[in-house]
Amino acid sequence: MQTESTPFSGAATEDDTSRSTGSRGDFPSSVLAGRRVLISAGPTHEPIDPVRFLGNRSSGKMGFALAAEAAARGADTFLVSGPVSLQTPRGVTRTDVTTALEMRDAIQARAARADLIIMAAAVADFRPLIVSQSKIKKEQGIPRIELTANPDILASLPAIAPGALRVGFAAETEASEAEAYAKLERKGAHFLVWNDVSQRGIGFGADDNDVTVYSNGRAPVRIDRRPKEDVASLLLDLFGEALQSFGTDIARAAY
Ligand code: CTP
Repeated sequence: MQTESTPFSGAATEDDTSRSTGSRGDFPSSVLAGRRVLISAGPTHEPIDPVRFLGNRSSGKMGFALAAEAAARGADTFLVSGPVSLQTPRGVTRTDVTTALEMRDAIQARAARADLIIMAAAVADFRPLIVSQSKIKKEQGIPRIELTANPDILASLPAIAPGALRVGFAAETEASEAEAYAKLERKGAHFLVWNDVSQRGIGFGADDNDVTVYSNGRAPVRIDRRPKEDVASLLLDLFGEALQSFGTDIARAAY
């Protein structure tokens, strides 16, 4: 059952540009019970040769916190994880992948059945075009590594999972509201969770996060700095409410 006051109640107005959620939300957490939630987490590693790879600093903590919270709320939770050193949260089904291509396959295989898809993974945008089958040796000189683009998993989802609520993350080093809305559009996502990874103590590898959630037609929602577990809880309040309000017709309503 929906309660009266909701973070998303009312349309955005010009002077209502941002609202803060200071405490745990006031939605019944049972909204997610029985829903199928698909989450990606962690980095991807793109091999250069058998011992080296291109990667990034994602620890997976935010995605794992979301998976733990979704499962605790009774969601049928499936986690696709890149290489991380984290325990699988209770009640979560997990599959491990290494590369962006493997992550794409794992996500796409389950996307059509999902009610909510959260791409919290820091997917590598590029991979080496040629992977050396043997270790590249110094005597061969300084290698020139040609890169090729990885597919954009989140942007592929509107076609595969048009009825799912789709959420992207953006880890940026500069705040730009215009870029946040552009990315939301480019990815065909319903929500974009934006965090500034240049701030000390939040983002990559940290235990805390501080995010702004963008979505079309609604004012941005600020979630001030707090442990990632609490950020996950507030985010799932927002997504749960959206699922409840719009049902699985949300994609048709928004696009
Ligand atoms: N993402 C994805 N597939 C990719 C790259 C990113 O699904 N190949 C998803 C991420 O999981 C995240 C969102 O898209 O949810 C935004 O990722 P980001 O790296 O910020 O997007 P990019 O399109 O790569 O933009 P930028 O050029 O700013 O890096």
